[in-house]
Amino acid sequence: MASILKLEKNSSYLKIIWSDGEESKFNYLWLRDNCPTAHDKDSRHRMYNILKASQNINPKKYNINSDGKLEIEWSEGKHTSYYDPNWLRENCYTIKNKKKYVSPYQLWDSSLAKNINSINIEHDEILNSKEGLIKWLELLHYKGIAIVKNAPIQKQSAFPVLNRISHTRETFFKTPFEVINVPKPNNSAYTAHELRNHMDLPWFENPPGYQFLHCLINSTEGGDSSAVDGFAVADYLKNNEKEIFETLVNVHLKFRDKDYTQELHRSFYAPAISLTKDGDYNDIRFSVATMDALDCNPDIMEKVYKAHHRFGNLLHDDNFQIKFRLEPGDIFSFNNRRLLHGRTAYNPNSGNRHLQGYYMDRDEIIGRLNFLKK
Ligand code: OGA
Ligand code: ZN
Repeated sequence: MASILKLEKNSSYLKIIWSDGEESKFNYLWLRDNCPTAHDKDSRHRMYNILKASQNINPKKYNINSDGKLEIEWSEGKHTSYYDPNWLRENCYTIKNKKKYVSPYQLWDSSLAKNINSINIEHDEILNSKEGLIKWLELLHYKGIAIVKNAPIQKQSAFPVLNRISHTRETFFKTPFEVINVPKPNNSAYTAHELRNHMDLPWFENPPGYQFLHCLINSTEGGDSSAVDGFAVADYLKNNEKEIFETLVNVHLKFRDKDYTQELHRSFYAPAISLTKDGDYNDIRFSVATMDALDCNPDIMEKVYKAHHRFGNLLHDDNFQIKFRLEPGDIFSFNNRRLLHGRTAYNPNSGNRHLQGYYMDRDEIIGRLNFLKK
């Protein structure tokens, strides 16, 4: 770890020159707000209230004390703060902002099918070891897809392995939801029809981040699965068909749910591709089945429909999608706001097919991974 070589007081920030030549600027309000005594030790919430300080707060005195800490006596509030140089270095926003952003996502296309074992993870390995759990979480976070193998095939038996991560996300479809061919279905998944590649529940403000389809029985003719990495398709468009990409990022589409069992009509506007603060992919919204009658400006409707059409066709392109068949004891796990998933039609009279589905928020996956990697 680098040590502090020199301090320099400026009008609104303290400059630190480090022993390895790096320089940091620490704004005074930022420093006062992040005094190590600011937080309650149990709740870990900030008890100190920066809103009560004046905007001109600054160091009356400052030095590196005999413990090697940065000591600041503040111009107001009769308070002295002591900062660990390692903490300052780790939280230095000057250095952080100079670094080039590196995406955690490993984009994939149909060539993943040749290497499908790379996304498999044994059920018992997850249940019995931290390494197994981390491997599953890393697949989910980096690739957006994993297939848990050799899970039990009793109803609801995915709970123990899912709870290794966290709690599930409840919806009106219930947990688990039953993916089975039923009369008078309230969702096209509950039929024997083909499901084009889609995400689930795009008409929510915050659609479930992850989905887990636990295969209990799959002995019918048909009912084969497909999946596509929506981030990879978005990236292809970004690099090759810029105008279409821009339209998909900038124009809000409209999604709606008109479930006959519900006494509400849920509806939400969102772009097909959304980006993070770093310009990385945040999420994909795509579902032919539940896109509402669009009502964007007539001047752009042609452009929007063509972009949607192009995107949708690439999302079904055999260069991008993988095809596979779920076996009893598989839990097909994926990022529902990155991947699209589908299945071929099946003949309900040729055997039985039953999947149980579960959702989980993205925070649970990423938060758990962050915790375990600490
Ligand atoms: C679903 C779904 C796929 C399948 O239930 O959301 O897409 O293979 N099911 O039945
Ligand atoms: Zn689905």
